[in-house]
Amino acid sequence: MKHLIDIMELSTQELEELIACAEDIIANPAKYAQACRGKKLATLFFEPSTRTRLSFEAAMYELGGQVLGFSEASSSSAAKGESVSDTVHTVSCYADIIAMRHPKEGAPLVASRRNWVPIINAGDGGHYHPTQTLADLLTIHREKGRFTGLTIGLCGDLKFGRTVHSLVSAMSRYEDIRFVFISPEELQVPEYIKTDVLEPRGIPYKEVASLENAMPELDILYMTRVQRERFFNEEDYVRLKDTYILTPDKLRNAKEDLSILHPLPRVNEISVLVDDDPRACYFKQVLNGKYMRMALILKLLEVKV
Ligand code: CP
Repeated sequence: MKHLIDIMELSTQELEELIACAEDIIANPAKYAQACRGKKLATLFFEPSTRTRLSFEAAMYELGGQVLGFSEASSSSAAKGESVSDTVHTVSCYADIIAMRHPKEGAPLVASRRNWVPIINAGDGGHYHPTQTLADLLTIHREKGRFTGLTIGLCGDLKFGRTVHSLVSAMSRYEDIRFVFISPEELQVPEYIKTDVLEPRGIPYKEVASLENAMPELDILYMTRVQRERFFNEEDYVRLKDTYILTPDKLRNAKEDLSILHPLPRVNEISVLVDDDPRACYFKQVLNGKYMRMALILKLLEVKV
């Protein structure tokens, strides 16, 4: 049985196949409209979500399947003390596939070990968010037409940002990639990303504090939110939350073909004035996430269309 817990479980060939499938879904939606008829997806969200949960649900509906689940732990028997394992075992009696978000790193991995039904990690704490990476990859592919020869700037909360950790891991497998990590010192990318992912592959990276200075060399700028829910004290969050705010003014030295991505939700880190800039891709990214989740559901359920 296949699960998706970490984006690195998918080979680059499998990523290309998922992208090709998503492109085919975009071009021929009617062909897929009954592909999952009779199948059920459960969305178990122990943490808040708008995009991930609703795009999984929209994805399953557009494949002709059905959806059940909960959107907060307090409305499930987790509130009575039920273990994650018992919850997932129970839901596997009702559903063919499960998308699960949990605040504890590793919870989806633990749930997947019993192999009841395919489990998709929809975000585990500050660890990984592989289906956001699928959305990011389709966006990069559609905007740039390639995954090679890119300088990628990641800005904001690189310590707790699970989307950052998954994207850096995924892009580190391609040729001629450089990373510029833009963050305050307290929110720098974790050591394991540097020592286990980048350095063994000889991938160039630098850590800087100034977004303005980094801007001219970037092909992709991946903005992130400073995540209040991961901080141990409010004072640190308040001090760091507005370190980076992307405004039209700050884009003056950017490349003409820069692509601006953000996994969303945003708080203050991108001014709404940037939304009309043709380089802003974050709402395209939202839509791309639905198509990639459709492709992933088909793959994990082994549905051939
Ligand atoms: N990008 C993302 O995970 O958004 P949600 O928290 O709204 O699902």
